[in-house]
Amino acid sequence: MKITTIILAAGKGTRMRSDLPKILHKIANRPLLQHVYDTAKNLKNNNIKIVVGHGAELVTAALINLDAEWIEQTLQLGTGHAVQQVSHQIGDDDTVLILYGDVPLLKLETVKLLINNVNDQSLALLTVKLANPTGYGRIVRNSAGQVIKIVEEKDASVDEKKIMEGNTGIMAVKGKPLKKWLSQLSNGNAQGEYYLTDVIEMAVADKFSVVTSQPDTEDEVLGVNNRIQLSHLERVYQQEQANILMEQGVTLRDPLRFDQRGEIASLGQDIEIDVNVILEGNNKIGSNIKIGPNTLIKNSIIGDNVEIFANCIIEDAVIGTGSRIGPYARLRPDSVLAENVHIGNFVELKKTTVAAGSKINHLSYIGDTSVGEKVNIGAGTITCNYDGVNKFQTVIEDGAFIGSNSQLVAPVTIGKNATIGAGSTITKDSPENQLTLSRAKQMSIAGWQRPIKKES
Ligand code: UD1
Ligand code: CA
Repeated sequence: MKITTIILAAGKGTRMRSDLPKILHKIANRPLLQHVYDTAKNLKNNNIKIVVGHGAELVTAALINLDAEWIEQTLQLGTGHAVQQVSHQIGDDDTVLILYGDVPLLKLETVKLLINNVNDQSLALLTVKLANPTGYGRIVRNSAGQVIKIVEEKDASVDEKKIMEGNTGIMAVKGKPLKKWLSQLSNGNAQGEYYLTDVIEMAVADKFSVVTSQPDTEDEVLGVNNRIQLSHLERVYQQEQANILMEQGVTLRDPLRFDQRGEIASLGQDIEIDVNVILEGNNKIGSNIKIGPNTLIKNSIIGDNVEIFANCIIEDAVIGTGSRIGPYARLRPDSVLAENVHIGNFVELKKTTVAAGSKINHLSYIGDTSVGEKVNIGAGTITCNYDGVNKFQTVIEDGAFIGSNSQLVAPVTIGKNATIGAGSTITKDSPENQLTLSRAKQMSIAGWQRPIKKES
């Protein structure tokens, strides 16, 4: 079976009050349209066509990597008109699936169920029972319970408005009949639009059965029209992610204060996550992990038995087994820590590898540096890696001890087991096993007196 999915995404989204086209607004850091695309992409043998209009250039530029064909609908004359733009590209035998670019949480299982209801004599329609159907097209059934048409809210009679079964807009049908019906649409209705929903009545006239199915939850078929709905679906999505993680062995101190914006490529168990933790991008997380509150972890790999204390920012980093990070640590891109490394408070690392058992516990900036094993870097150590134009490397070999408040002016190498005296500015390589220090000699002046204030 060949599938053609048409994602309708030309609408303006006026109520978002935004310069950004609505479908580029994000849930979990992914554009609404991308959510729909990702779901459709999971169907095999599927050609995806996306109908864009408002902000078409911005949309195609932002989502240039999608494996889809972009079709422009210059004037938005209705959902039927939108599908007409793709008509000539639909094969007779294709199963055509219509999705909306602003309905992000639709589940793959729901779509598969829908598609299974399509055959040469049936159209599959996703409907939803609503507590308040205002604004939705209503599903009109005959006394035998068969669907006979959809009537839009603005065209509905008083009785039709009482129907609680709403049209989600999502449907599937074979290409040949769809193309025929599309060519017969007219815009003689309250909104002067070409309604896709009119194909239902045409299908019934052609002796098609309209097979309806429903999503598991209403949230699956909710569209985003304003930022309140956007935030609602964000929370729905996040609660789902939280549930998945908890089922996999993660303790979330409060699932309502946890955000996952991306994927977790691998996950161990016995992971404890405190409140306000954000996992972003693609992370790999080992087993027996504690993550303290208010921490952002992005595109990182975390080994087993790691503890991350409160308020850390960790990005494009690797943390080795048994390491301890924070509180208030910042691991910037390409920070690679081996086993049992301790990074303490107010420590910033960038492009730095730290070998096993080394400690940088307080108030330091270490950038473009290779740190050996069992190195101890004292409080207030700074690698001066930048001369305003170029970046330079610092090498600190195994067992070195850097006294507090030292500046290591790169390029520079601190030899194996070398000791740097506190307060030194090191500009030359420091030999192994020796104490190196650069500091004015301390002296005391006997008989020196403080100035005395004159009486006025
Ligand atoms: C549509 C349905 C209605 C259903 C509701 C569900 C029709 C006539 N009505 O109504 O039965 O209950 O969705 O939300 O189909 N779009 C285009 N080009 C256009 C018009 C719309 O691409 O010319 C896109 C929009 O960007 C949006 C989707 O189609 O993603 C639905 O359009 P919208 O205007 O929201 O349809 P409704 O009037 O709400
Ligand atoms: Ca709508």
